[in-house]
Amino acid sequence: MGLESYEALGLKWTDYIPHQPTVKQLAFLMLPHRESLFGGAAGGGKSDALLMAALQYVDVPGYSAIIFRKTLTDLKQPDALIDRSHQWLAGTPAKWVGSEHTWYFPTLNADGSPGLPAKLSFGYIGESNAKIRYQGIMVQFVGWDEVNQHEYDDYRYLFSRTRKLACPIHQTVNGVPDYREDCQICQQQKSVPLRVRSTTNPGGFPWVKQRFRIQPDIDPREAARTGARVSYVGKHSKRPFIPSFLADNPHLDQESYAAALDELDPVTKAMLKEGRWDVSPDARFKRHWARYYSRRGEYFTLGLNGTGPMHHMDSLQRIFVTVDPATSSKFGPGDILNWRKQPSYTVLSIWALTINYHLLWLDMVRFRREAPDVILAMKNINRRWNPDYFLVEGNGVGMPILQAAAKEGLTVQPIITRADKVTNATEAMIRMSQGRIWFPEEASWLSTAEDELFFWTGAPTETDDIVDTLSNAARNISWDEGAVMPDNPEMPEGDMRENLDLPMIIDDLYSRGYPNENPFSTGMEFLP
Ligand SMILES: Nc1ncnc2c1ncn2[C@@H]1O[C@H](COP(=O)(O)OP(=O)(O)OP(=O)(O)O)[C@@H](O)[C@H]1O
Ligand SMILES: [Mg+2]
Repeated sequence: MGLESYEALGLKWTDYIPHQPTVKQLAFLMLPHRESLFGGAAGGGKSDALLMAALQYVDVPGYSAIIFRKTLTDLKQPDALIDRSHQWLAGTPAKWVGSEHTWYFPTLNADGSPGLPAKLSFGYIGESNAKIRYQGIMVQFVGWDEVNQHEYDDYRYLFSRTRKLACPIHQTVNGVPDYREDCQICQQQKSVPLRVRSTTNPGGFPWVKQRFRIQPDIDPREAARTGARVSYVGKHSKRPFIPSFLADNPHLDQESYAAALDELDPVTKAMLKEGRWDVSPDARFKRHWARYYSRRGEYFTLGLNGTGPMHHMDSLQRIFVTVDPATSSKFGPGDILNWRKQPSYTVLSIWALTINYHLLWLDMVRFRREAPDVILAMKNINRRWNPDYFLVEGNGVGMPILQAAAKEGLTVQPIITRADKVTNATEAMIRMSQGRIWFPEEASWLSTAEDELFFWTGAPTETDDIVDTLSNAARNISWDEGAVMPDNPEMPEGDMRENLDLPMIIDDLYSRGYPNENPFSTGMEFLP
């Protein structure tokens, strides 16, 4: 196909692009949206498509595009983007300036006079961040290759670095280009859209999956039963997601590539060969550990669709709630990792413990508001579930919540969360791997909780508020008693901690060197 045939399709094209796009690549190049993602299995031609997209407008004076990888090494690998751009652009009028990692393209204005050069740069964030490194740029195209390796902050920041091109004659009015209908140059500049384009494999940072609302087209648990194939589709109306598969790319030796992917561990293979978005090789909690209960009136059954052992509501050992109040600084100010962390949520999870030590996740509430709302949420939960107690993190922000909740007459217990989240989660991981932690078969919050849990690797920049509520629930149970339960039908004693009163526990925390001031020593009224 030549230039004319692309233009007949309504596709902007330049002869700097040496490859003829595949059908999926063509779709990616034609999308009119500000933002889109080409993602999925390995080898589908995603990076190629990104380079094509960046080059679409390099004949327009002043046009500027940048493509990011996480590190400079990623950019410079053989056959990676810089190398590939050299294969494509060597022998063309474009000039490479190595010190700037930038190609410059000669252009012509619409009236035939020489225009400003157009640019394609390659950038990397490395250990720094986009704001520090790329404050000064102004572009019409931002490309993110392997966007799932990038921080959400960096991705978001670059939107502020996109700006429409202005005509050198008519310039801007109040910062907005003053395009004139009768000016050819204005019309040429106006034709360049602002685009943010990304490629990715599944996995990595979970924000990508959320931003593009990548979801299975059928219930994966249903599919596991019937053997049906799950496809992952993008459900965001303004941010299209094009799923990519090896089979889309006839330019690779698909058979030998597929054989190479077969050598990988099962989880990585599921991601890179089948384009599955529901697994992560580094995740601490494995999706296949999850068990699902169903609810039938007053009964819970440990199995889908009302199957499995039944437990009547009244036979439960206890219902309790774990509360993880939002904090803005868990690791102290100035900590770059903490600054990087997404703003945290307050999460409340409601749990039921069966007589034979299975833990059912009854409900979850998550929001981004302040302390008074936490108390309100606790009161609502109290009415709805009548829990035996609330476990609240005894950290800095947790303490006032504990006090206020106790004043409201709620039964609260402080817990110390270990700063090391992975250690804190160990009990939960062990019990989930034993099939003793049960998710509801249906709940509005289920996919949110599953997404956080099954992608969480323990890295400090990841959101982990939901994980914390699970970790703390698992740590609150004396599981070993459960180990002997099947042979011992008698009601267990219950958790010792229930019998302790709050001031005693708090005193105990302080006596173990708990960092804050003891509220009792200030004469503050604590219990109602
Ligand atoms: N339209 C095309 N014409 C010719 N070759 C192509 C085309 N699309 C992709 N290729 C080639 O196929 C190979 C794989 O493509 P590419 O690297 O873009 O895939 P990818 O989806 O980014 O893979 P990965 O998941 O490994 O990052 C590359 O060598 C690339 O140049
Ligand atoms: Mg690629």
